[in-house]
Amino acid sequence: MAAATAAFTTALGAQSQWIAEGPQRGLPSPTAAWRPYDEDLAHPANRIFAAAFLVELVPAEVGLALPAEAENAARHGADARHFGKRPGEERDRRLFGGDGLQLPRESFPEAESKALLAALDGLRGEPLEAMRKTTFACVRLQNDILRLARRLLDTDANPELLAPLLDAARRLALPRSQLLDSGLATFAPTDLADVEPTIDPSRLVEVERRSTRLFDAEHTLLWSRVFFDWPEGKGRAFAEELAAIAAGSAPSVPAGARAILVQGIVALDDRGAPCATPLAIDVRLQQFVGVTDPAAAKATTTRDGVDFRVFWLARETLRTKGGRVSLRDFREVGDDDQVLFRDYGTLKHTTVGAQCTLCHRVSGTPEPELAGFPLLRKTAQSRVASSPTARLELAEREFVKFLATLASAAKRDSVTTR
Ligand code: HEC
Repeated sequence: MAAATAAFTTALGAQSQWIAEGPQRGLPSPTAAWRPYDEDLAHPANRIFAAAFLVELVPAEVGLALPAEAENAARHGADARHFGKRPGEERDRRLFGGDGLQLPRESFPEAESKALLAALDGLRGEPLEAMRKTTFACVRLQNDILRLARRLLDTDANPELLAPLLDAARRLALPRSQLLDSGLATFAPTDLADVEPTIDPSRLVEVERRSTRLFDAEHTLLWSRVFFDWPEGKGRAFAEELAAIAAGSAPSVPAGARAILVQGIVALDDRGAPCATPLAIDVRLQQFVGVTDPAAAKATTTRDGVDFRVFWLARETLRTKGGRVSLRDFREVGDDDQVLFRDYGTLKHTTVGAQCTLCHRVSGTPEPELAGFPLLRKTAQSRVASSPTARLELAEREFVKFLATLASAAKRDSVTTR
């Protein structure tokens, strides 16, 4: 009974962190308490998280897909609901972020910079030693810290924070053997059947590719792997299709084709080298439903034939489950949930569905033959993966460039401020 009650309150707690219904569905609740790394709200790790991932701001852009923009969207025609946007204004100020994937912070006013410095400084001695006993927490918090440093490099803000962020990331660094422990794995292709029983994991084929900047670990600090599930008996087999694309043919995508994108953390190890850990935090399922049945196509995420499901792993889940996490434990984010996205450098408040549709729709693009799969573009050079570690090794090489940039910026700054 006691255990059941505890499980019940935890579930309620998790739910109330996000606004479940209404015009701001999916945003973090302004009254929620976030305890991603420790029960104690005031723990330095929770304060570092909050500094980066809980930010009240005016978005640069507001998507017309938001329920509150329905009238505005209607005035601009059918497509505006997905693609329309307007500049943000003071009345659009909200709390963004939460224990998800997107990092809303762009810069810190002086007082907040000082508070973050104090939190980083608190991550020494006993609290640090306690953190270092949990590999999951070290890897995830270090990634939060390094992603914040990446962001400040990109926005050219708060140079005084770079050296302390890098230093804190180094204090959380663990030996490579510990970072590669299979107990840290939160995703296996076989888990997909738990959330999508129609997937047969044995049919998945991993592809290697030339990634765009969106998936370059120098910028994302994440590795990314993509698996395809290609229907049989409806045209070319998958490997033949890729060969045909490489030889210059237009892709021919059968209805039912699926892709699964998985992103996981590249950590900094205790020798200063990158390590692609098995800790996955983002899983996205994509299916080309087809365009021949207009009603079925309209019911998809893009409204024109491509369906998505998105799963993000909460830090708090890692903590409360004490590891032993699989895809079932990820939080599914719905098409209508709202997120502050920052792709291409702009803080944009819109729905998940509208954001994915921007780059993955079938109609109204110069390349309808891709059926929403940019990986099937000839320039992506997709090919059947030579090994399951190829993409992980690539991500480690990309991450080295980020480390070099950060280390030199941090050094430059600590020289000029002393
Ligand atoms: C700014 C453009 C953009 C947005 C927005 C975007 N993607 Fe993508 N996506 C891409 C590109 C480009 C690739 C090709 C991968 C690469 O570069 O390595 C891709 C690849 C993928 C793949 C792998 C299969 C493929 O080729 O489509 C999945 C799955 C995916 N994205 C899901 C999503 C989901 C879900 C969303 C919304 C949360 C989303 N994407 C938003 C640009 C985008």
